[in-house]
Amino acid sequence: MKILILGSGAREYSIARAILNENAGHELFFMPGNGATSEQGTNLNIKDYDSLAQYAKQNNIELTIVGPEGPLVDGVVDIFKKNGLVIFGPSKAAAQLEGSKVYMKNFLAKYKIPTARYIETSSIEDAFKFSNTLSTPIVVKADGLCGGKGVIIAQTHNEAKVAISEMLSGKSFGDAGKSVIVEEFLDGYELSMFAVCDGDDYILLPAAQDHKRLKDNDEGPNTGGMGAYAPTPLVDEALYQKVRDRVIRPTLDGMNKEGAPFEGVLFIGIMVVNGEPITLEFNVRFGDPECEILMPLMTSSVSDMFLKAATNRLSEIKVEFSKQYAVGVVMASENYPYGSSKPAEIILDDIHHEEIEKYTHISYAGVSKEDGILYADGGRVLVCVGLGDSIKEARDRAYLRCGQVHFAGKKLRTDIAYQAL
Ligand code: AMP
Ligand code: GLY
Repeated sequence: MKILILGSGAREYSIARAILNENAGHELFFMPGNGATSEQGTNLNIKDYDSLAQYAKQNNIELTIVGPEGPLVDGVVDIFKKNGLVIFGPSKAAAQLEGSKVYMKNFLAKYKIPTARYIETSSIEDAFKFSNTLSTPIVVKADGLCGGKGVIIAQTHNEAKVAISEMLSGKSFGDAGKSVIVEEFLDGYELSMFAVCDGDDYILLPAAQDHKRLKDNDEGPNTGGMGAYAPTPLVDEALYQKVRDRVIRPTLDGMNKEGAPFEGVLFIGIMVVNGEPITLEFNVRFGDPECEILMPLMTSSVSDMFLKAATNRLSEIKVEFSKQYAVGVVMASENYPYGSSKPAEIILDDIHHEEIEKYTHISYAGVSKEDGILYADGGRVLVCVGLGDSIKEARDRAYLRCGQVHFAGKKLRTDIAYQAL
């Protein structure tokens, strides 16, 4: 198949890698891709979605896969479908599950899906009043997309009020903060669960854990994610079943009732509190770096799963996973997550070790290529992935690979998967 992938991160690289590993002669295109996806296929630079759909038609692209939330919330799926193209991802209407936290919370409440107690409001008085009824910490969330920065965990009532005021006045997030959610803090352990959905049916992937903070021991600022592993032993079959029955099924049925069938990846951010899964939030795409560790665990065809999901035929296939574990360690550039960093040449040691060769690989994100040389170009640069028969083995292998990657200012956590070890 000719397949177009939207996005530029290691998430998209890892999807491409899994598809190419099928050795089925697929030809890949990326919009925009990065300095390493240019080795996997053709990077495009067509920002306008109507023009991109024309390109896809003229070049007989048979399947488009959307990585990040931005194009989904902007309605790229609707535009491609209007042009008769097959595309994997939710419509603009269904992408509201991520694009608006107010929509998401009200949806959860309407369909009785367990979530943190909350108020949704644009009134500063109401927000203050509700926050006074909560004990600290208090969670304050901007309604719209804020590049992962729109959630404040306030340690005091006063801090909560400052966050509420700054959001509602437009000071912190502009229009995205015009409405806020104020909610109770849930104390438990966090999971990332992913259901690949076709509107009616779904495939639940092995549960993963992300590491959002920049530094070891979950210290430092929040990031997009500094590492992940799967499957996590923190989830047993009973918990998977609760998530199926209490979250995924009612969400698919509810979205159908709302007239916005959910096709695409339903990413459920879960807090497990006293053994019960509570939905923190939805995203409508794969997590990054979670995708990078889930893709290599899939032993059945990844491209076929996306194709069947995009054409409402998931019930026709069986998706299979390896019995192994995967651990991914993110390497970020010097100034991440605060700002950009000077491009730094990436030097990769030659691999002489069979174990590293066989059980590890790299998925690339913030990299550019000039004259055949790969540069770290800011943000999260790459993810070293290790596979193994235990989490420890996978983790040790991922870190062995990290030791063979060099660039000025490289930053990584040394404790990925600690919760499982
Ligand atoms: P979000 O942007 O909604 O993913 O939130 C970012 C992070 O904030 C989540 O991954 C959680 O770690 C944390 N968080 C969000 N809501 C809550 C809550 N009600 N209780 C505790 N932590 C939360
Ligand atoms: N790793 C979390 C996210 O992609 O939002």
